[in-house]
Amino acid sequence: MKKIALFTSGGDSPGMNACIRAVVRSGIYNQLEVVGIMHGYEGMIEGKFIPMDSGSVSGIIQRGGTILKTARSKRFMTAEGMKQAYRSLKNENIDGVVAIGGDGTFRGAVEFNKSYDVPFIGIPGTIDNDLAGTDFTLGFDTAINTVVEAVDKIRDTAASHDRLFFVEVMGRDAGSIALLSGISVGAEAILIPETKTYIENLIATLKKGWHRNKTSMIVIVAEGEEAGGAYKIAELVKKELTGMDTRVTVLGHIQRGGNPTCNDRVLASRLGVAAVEALLKGRREEMIGQVNNEICYTPFANAVKEHVINENLLRIAEILSI
Ligand code: F6P
Repeated sequence: MKKIALFTSGGDSPGMNACIRAVVRSGIYNQLEVVGIMHGYEGMIEGKFIPMDSGSVSGIIQRGGTILKTARSKRFMTAEGMKQAYRSLKNENIDGVVAIGGDGTFRGAVEFNKSYDVPFIGIPGTIDNDLAGTDFTLGFDTAINTVVEAVDKIRDTAASHDRLFFVEVMGRDAGSIALLSGISVGAEAILIPETKTYIENLIATLKKGWHRNKTSMIVIVAEGEEAGGAYKIAELVKKELTGMDTRVTVLGHIQRGGNPTCNDRVLASRLGVAAVEALLKGRREEMIGQVNNEICYTPFANAVKEHVINENLLRIAEILSI
């Protein structure tokens, strides 16, 4: 292996830059030539390669976003798109690729490798924490801390006005952000895509809290929750609890930006170095993860299997919200 390429793809996440730095620097450390691909699979199709040296990744470890930009490429999922991408990689003499992204990124790599023989190694970069084979994905820790900071502020004003707030957090298919941030802010209820939403139960919980004279109540709603998100839930609840003063806040893309936490920077650094070492050892079509503080390798196809929510955390959230 002489020359490797790296790219970021899918929704950006804090820690991607720290990871780019780690891949570039450990590539150089191992006497490899390293190039970046701009805009994910789109850039691969269009041959948008840029040389990366040690200086090109200076001063980025603390920055959110991704200097290589990102995209969700529909073109790459077509036979023509993949052919073009393969041609670009061959023209550039790429011997191995590091893909930093989420489930869509790894599904793309699996499809590509069915027809074309270029080793891919993946690094889990998504705020959603929805991949098997790693305890945490890059950016998740930063995102949940952003949510916690915002909801703590909402709690202050909610308590001052004796209000009920519905706060919508990201997670189209995954409730990890909602679950962990919900536990951290002492949410009265947490609604996630992985479980059924029983409006009657939610209303009963909120009524109980009200009768216990709680001065504020917070319901964390993941955007992919089955009833349709925070506005929809608030509407349904308000019909029954007409006396409650309610508000809705949608946190949105604020959750995807910001300086990565120390945990995300260290994770990014470990996974970036491990990805280069994996390519050098001849590994391919695997996602590098960290489980119980150890580096581990999971075939892409297993990493993207249906996301399983931690039942025990759900139970803890329920016990503590009485
Ligand atoms: O994959 C990360 C994520 O932030 C999800 O939580 C969210 O549902 C989605 O991306 C939003 O994507 P976009 O920025 O394309 O609207």
